[in-house]
Amino acid sequence: MSNFLIIKKKIKEFNKKIIVSGDKSLSIRWILFASLANGISQAQNLLISEDVMAAISAIKKLGIKVELKKNICKIYGKGIDGYNYKKNIILDARNSGTLGRLILGFLINTQNPIKIIGDKSLSKRDFKRIALPLSKFGAKFKLKKNKYLPLIIKGSPNLKPINYLENKGSAQCKSSLIFAGMRTGGTTYIKAKPSRNHTELLCKHLKLPIKFYKKNNYDFIKVEKVNKIKKLNYKIPSDISSGAFFMVLTALSENSKLLIRNVNINPSRSGVIEILKRMGVKIKLKNKKIYKGEENANIEIRSTKNISSINCPSSLNTKAIDEFLLIFLVAAKAKGTSYFKDLSELNQKESPRLQWGAKILNKMGIKTIVNNNSIKIFGNPDLKLNKQIVIKNFLKDHRVFMTCVIAALTFGGEWKIYDKDSINTSFPNFLKIIKKLS
Ligand code: S3P
Repeated sequence: MSNFLIIKKKIKEFNKKIIVSGDKSLSIRWILFASLANGISQAQNLLISEDVMAAISAIKKLGIKVELKKNICKIYGKGIDGYNYKKNIILDARNSGTLGRLILGFLINTQNPIKIIGDKSLSKRDFKRIALPLSKFGAKFKLKKNKYLPLIIKGSPNLKPINYLENKGSAQCKSSLIFAGMRTGGTTYIKAKPSRNHTELLCKHLKLPIKFYKKNNYDFIKVEKVNKIKKLNYKIPSDISSGAFFMVLTALSENSKLLIRNVNINPSRSGVIEILKRMGVKIKLKNKKIYKGEENANIEIRSTKNISSINCPSSLNTKAIDEFLLIFLVAAKAKGTSYFKDLSELNQKESPRLQWGAKILNKMGIKTIVNNNSIKIFGNPDLKLNKQIVIKNFLKDHRVFMTCVIAALTFGGEWKIYDKDSINTSFPNFLKIIKKLS
């Protein structure tokens, strides 16, 4: 089957209700917690995607039994010291930075060296940012060129707690440090630039000895050694990062309305809603509920004719970090010039996304001024495309692919977008839902 998609027509008006798949961050965290819990944990609505399957394969290699039927998953935890694996194992994180980085915290006290590998895109991403702080606990690391995968971790039975300032706003680093702190005697203190807090909320729900609070725009986390994790049954809500594609599709289409059911709207994750609202997009949150410490809601969104430009405050950056390619598309249709700053972390993703954002907009005929840290987008509310656009060589970044599909369906033109299979990492149902709406 060909691995590209051709789109030649804009989407027609629609008025529908949809469900997008389970949250990726929560699915991977649930798998890791359940792997060290006492007893059988069960998740419903687990995201079934390559990143999540990589997490399941990894814990299986660590000796944990897993049963998966459709999107219901059972993990047979054997307690906090329950990993049992052969010498010289290799764990393949594939495309998943979340898995590759988070699991290192869980492996901080392993006796035998473990090798972590990843695909081409993950092998270009920075693992020093996590190996460095984790080595302060006493674990040993060997990385390719001191920074990249493959890496080898050799844990230590004599770990020391650390006091660490995480200044990138990376939830992956913060979470990995929390996990390492959970395995270490004494008290670990983390001061972190705010980022998504699913790990902290799960710890709180599990009543683990972890305290966290916010002060002066930083997250402060105090972690004590954990001796037992209770089994955890969890119904995973839908992923706002997947929902965001359909939010933007609706906002940029004509006369359309969409309801996306039971989406996780954790405030540390839902910056896309705040940014789109500031740009004048019509969004309502309905049926808000708290489930195991996480806020979920139905999101209702309508087509929006008059979109305003935005000077986006950097305080919203980590809250919307996975949605910026889509937000840039909205800025392309805004009246006036939008400005997004302090975004160097975007170039640390599956592809250098700040550069890709600019490339896509330029191909669409939108002027941008971009550097390694910021982008200015000169919006054009009357933009209608009737040219050919080819998108390829984007390191199979799933979010680049899906953003281009949304651009094609809303701005028109004739698009040929390569690496269709990239959606399998995070959102295999993406094209099925698009079909349902068209
Ligand atoms: C994630 C954190 C973010 C995000 C990624 C998932 C997580 O990465 O981009 O898709 O689940 O913790 P960083 O923490 O590196 O910013």
